[in-house]
Amino acid sequence: MTESDLKQKILLFFRKNKEQYVSGEDISRSLEVSRAYVWKYMSKLRDDGYAIDAVPRLGYKIRSVPDKLFGYEIKNGLKTRVIGKKEIYHYEAIDSTNNRAYELAEELAPEGTIVVAESQTHGKGRIGRKWVSPKSGGIYMSLILRPDVETDEVPSVTLVAAVAIIRAIKDITGIDVRMKWPNDILCGKKKVCGILTEIKAQPDRVDFLILGAGINVNTPVGKLPAGSTSLKDETGYSINRAQLMRQILEELENNYKKFQKKGFTIVRSECKRLSSVLGKNVRIKAHHHIIEGKAIDIDKKGALIVWDGNCERRRVFSGDVSVVSQ
Ligand code: BTN
Repeated sequence: MTESDLKQKILLFFRKNKEQYVSGEDISRSLEVSRAYVWKYMSKLRDDGYAIDAVPRLGYKIRSVPDKLFGYEIKNGLKTRVIGKKEIYHYEAIDSTNNRAYELAEELAPEGTIVVAESQTHGKGRIGRKWVSPKSGGIYMSLILRPDVETDEVPSVTLVAAVAIIRAIKDITGIDVRMKWPNDILCGKKKVCGILTEIKAQPDRVDFLILGAGINVNTPVGKLPAGSTSLKDETGYSINRAQLMRQILEELENNYKKFQKKGFTIVRSECKRLSSVLGKNVRIKAHHHIIEGKAIDIDKKGALIVWDGNCERRRVFSGDVSVVSQ
């Protein structure tokens, strides 16, 4: 049993015995480890920030839980089979969770492995931008996937993930967030989440894909770039980040499984329904050119279909979209 597994089991035992003291003896019997081990792990949990009372003859009781995205907290009650069920690497601070996940994937870490951090020093956004990632408040996570897809299907995996994250945010907060194709999640006109997908691929197929998501959960808006918001700012209360992350992983696994079986078509209509750009006049900065026109569809491969000024249908696979008028 790893250190993380044992911490998870101890916390589960506490949660089953809500509000009550649990004796070291009961824990040691139930988890089949020595009393000395229980004692050692209580002290490790305290080091992680858990306030644990110890009363002679009564036992231990958890008084407060730290607001951290420890793997064993996220795994507690997580109803998935693969995503998040492998190793969850947790960092207080890291340059970029996507970089770390990429390294791990190159070292053959399995699909479902996650890297999560409380802050990033060089959080990466799309097109070489930076992702502002202040301490404790956001979710900065990267997931390793190994889908059996060709490279032209990668953009649709980003959309599959965006739909999952939108659903999870809606479930937990009730906020009606929308997708700004292809990778932004907005509350009204303000950005609350960005997705950065990176791949290692052969000419025809993908070796692995790193799905990175940055979510402004409880982050004070003053620490975010202009045009951004946080879920706390929108709802007026703090969101339990571990709970939100569990919901995201569950929705992600659900969508990803469907995608693997049936392809992007399975989430296409939901993707269109959640889009904030369809039906609007848009301006898209794509590579070295600009496309202007009306966004009319998201096609079977996840490309945005735009009627341009010459009434020609353009298929756009990636780019920076801004809405120019309703
Ligand atoms: C964007 O909107 O431009 C994409 C932002 C993606 C940010 C996330 S935070 C976790 C992961 N690690 C990174 O360095 N970037 C992604």
